[in-house]
Amino acid sequence: MQKLMPKRVEKTYLGSMTKCNQFEFEYRQNHLFCEDCRVDEIIKKHGTPLYVYSRSNIVEQFKQMTRAFGTHTHVVCYSVKANSNGAILKTLVNLGAGMDVVSGGELRRALNVGCDPKKIVYSGVGKTANEIRFAIQTGILQINCESEQELSTIQNIASSLNIKAPVALRVNPDIDPKTHPYISTGLKENKFGISHLKAVSVYKSALSMSHIEITGISCHIGSQILECEPFRNAMIKLKDIINQLAAINIPVKNVDVGGGLGIIYNNENPLTATDYARAITEPLTGLDCTILLEPGRFIVGNAGILVTKVIYVKEGDHKEHFTIVDAAFNDLKRPMLYGAYHEIIPVMVSPEKKTITTNIEGPICETTDRFARHREMQPTEPGEYLAIMSTGAYGMSMACTYNSRGRPAEVLVKGDQFFLVRKADSIEDITHNEIMPGFLT
Ligand code: LLP
Repeated sequence: MQKLMPKRVEKTYLGSMTKCNQFEFEYRQNHLFCEDCRVDEIIKKHGTPLYVYSRSNIVEQFKQMTRAFGTHTHVVCYSVKANSNGAILKTLVNLGAGMDVVSGGELRRALNVGCDPKKIVYSGVGKTANEIRFAIQTGILQINCESEQELSTIQNIASSLNIKAPVALRVNPDIDPKTHPYISTGLKENKFGISHLKAVSVYKSALSMSHIEITGISCHIGSQILECEPFRNAMIKLKDIINQLAAINIPVKNVDVGGGLGIIYNNENPLTATDYARAITEPLTGLDCTILLEPGRFIVGNAGILVTKVIYVKEGDHKEHFTIVDAAFNDLKRPMLYGAYHEIIPVMVSPEKKTITTNIEGPICETTDRFARHREMQPTEPGEYLAIMSTGAYGMSMACTYNSRGRPAEVLVKGDQFFLVRKADSIEDITHNEIMPGFLT
């Protein structure tokens, strides 16, 4: 750790190191490294904007999660939506991970990398008949059903296929996860799941259906959760429902606790995997069940950075300073969508430079295309590079092609080697599905 790096970075990265033990990005002689690769060397080969992921960080996070649940029977079903790059999925499958999917596309991705269908769970409020059919035919572990109508659809499709569909009900426990309202999912006003007050009666009707096999119960209360209480309270509500079901002879094998464990972006103080495991398992004591976990952000969030080049710097009225970079909200939506904070650090530190206050802005024609407002940092010149930190989760997976900008390339680092794991979109990639009607040509 260098003394001369910007203060904020030192604070964050010291925090990460002590609390989460995830320290795969560091400065060595003023150069940012990912594992043992110099980030500017990676950019020289693959350009910017570029996502760079640390394999060992991902592996370590996965292992922390499995270690924390130790002797409890459990499956870590990585939440594919957090980062669905095939190389990352394959890395996790090789470690024995299952997958949490929310669309036919994600299910295909999971199968493409050889994920055992018996470790795949499928949630989502709007599964179509085709998606449900595909899931049943694939023989996945469990469909997390989110409404009574969906339950009937599953029953009808399963009966037409003459297969018993493995189903858990996703319960909405009405718990405040104390996170950003846009990523709360377990409050009664949210669209997700079946009300905890109705759950037992829906289970009873599931029991009467010929092609439904009740395999479990599930919930997911939100994302970037930093406290024990919401998790603990959700589990208490699930246990109560499980007890009511046991009393009427409906056994529950799998307890799917969703995802949601938060990470450090700035100065958060997240739970360790061990704290989290305690909050989940203590209320479930005495149950003979398999715990299914659906972590996304915890596994990949701190393992990725988005590297971007400074294109211009300029000053507006009132000495407002702007640093215009070549990444934009089409590459990383979190700041514009949730006002999310991401640390932004230079790829090369110049210790002699005094910090300035700047706005880091993308090239898209919208005011919200901004990564940071009034950020104190080392001034940069056109041609220099910045790293937007902790963008491994919900970065590339939410990227789009607004302004006809191709989505960026992705690189996976392994020790002192780095591998291109996705090319950047070309203009042909963006336009090739468009059809020009004859009358225009
Ligand atoms: N399981 C279900 C059913 C989910 O809906 C989610 C996330 C997860 C698991 C994984 O949650 P995690 O462990 O990553 O917190 N785009 C937002 C986050 C949306 C999360 C949606 N659901 C963001 O960038 O913060």
